[in-house]
Amino acid sequence: MTQPDRFVRGYAPQQPIPYSHRLHAGTMKIPCQYCHVGATKSRHAGVPAVETCMNCHRVTKKDSPAIQKLTAIYDSGRPLEWKRIHVLPDHVYFDHRPHVNGGIACQTCHGEIQTMEVVYQHMSMRMGNCLGCHRDAHEALPADSKIKRGPEHCNACHR
Ligand code: HEC
Ligand code: HEC
Ligand code: HEC
Ligand code: HEC
Ligand code: HEC
Repeated sequence: MTQPDRFVRGYAPQQPIPYSHRLHAGTMKIPCQYCHVGATKSRHAGVPAVETCMNCHRVTKKDSPAIQKLTAIYDSGRPLEWKRIHVLPDHVYFDHRPHVNGGIACQTCHGEIQTMEVVYQHMSMRMGNCLGCHRDAHEALPADSKIKRGPEHCNACHR
């Protein structure tokens, strides 16, 4: 990915399998963390292994070419190479845990993912966007939250 691309809102690469959040997370209401298991437990939310898809697609829609491709990848034992969308530069430290465990909704940063047929980058990856919320986070937090703000000192995000 080129340097300008990673900051561009709207970046939406074509994925190897036409997986739809609108269908799975919207219509079917599968919880985000069924697939993004890392969000409350580790720095990265993570993208699910094909195994997670096969929980359903061993039987569901086996006649679909996309599902046959998915099954072939699963049977090969190789990982599915999803294209990464949100990427911060290496010199920036971000951790999902304090944000998600603090009660900030995924959608506050990532937009209405459950309506997206193809995921696109909703969030600006600029420092000013992080700091804008860190200075005054109350709108992003639950009303009864004891947290007021995020850190503004340089080494919180540059370690
Ligand atoms: C059934 C599994 C599944 C569910 C449920 C799911 N996702 Fe995803 N998510 C994926 C997969 C697979 C990808 C990678 C392919 C893509 O980008 O569409 C992905 C990609 C993403 C990305 C982009 C990752 C990147 O590379 O930057 C975000 C953000 C995201 N999901 C957020 C959410 C949110 C928020 C929800 C709940 C509203 C959700 N997802 C529900 C499977 C899931
Ligand atoms: C405070 C803003 C914020 C919130 C809230 C947030 N994310 Fe993210 N997310 C980011 C940023 C920034 C990145 C890029 C991180 C990087 O490059 O290291 C990212 C990356 C991702 C990725 C790509 C893989 C990874 O883990 O780096 C997925 C998937 C994802 N987020 C899913 C979610 C889900 C699901 C939720 C809610 C449970 C969520 N995010 C909440 C800001 C946020
Ligand atoms: C909880 C069950 C479940 C999980 C988990 C799940 N899916 Fe699905 N998926 C479905 C159902 C149900 C449909 C819609 C079937 C229909 O159209 O009637 C579907 C449809 C699809 C389709 C469209 C197939 C077509 O040709 O119409 C694709 C592609 C797909 N899923 C990929 C994935 C991928 C990739 C994952 C893992 C990241 C995944 N699914 C996880 C249940 C699931
Ligand atoms: C929508 C609001 C919001 C956005 C956007 C946001 N943050 Fe935060 N962030 C917070 C809040 C609130 C906290 C404090 C959480 C706490 O005190 O438990 C925090 C805490 C942190 C921490 C401290 C983690 C720790 O372990 O001490 C880091 C690092 C961080 N954010 C980095 C970032 C980066 C980098 C970005 C931009 C890519 C970003 N944040 C965007 C609200 C946000
Ligand atoms: C809340 C997180 C956060 C804090 C706090 C923060 N930064 Fe950043 N910084 C970022 C992010 C995200 C980027 C990458 C995006 C960009 O360049 O806007 C960045 C990029 C930079 C860059 C590189 C700009 C470029 O053109 O490549 C410099 C230099 C920098 N920060 C210095 C600082 C200094 C000095 C401080 C303290 C006064 C600071 N940062 C505090 C998140 C943060």
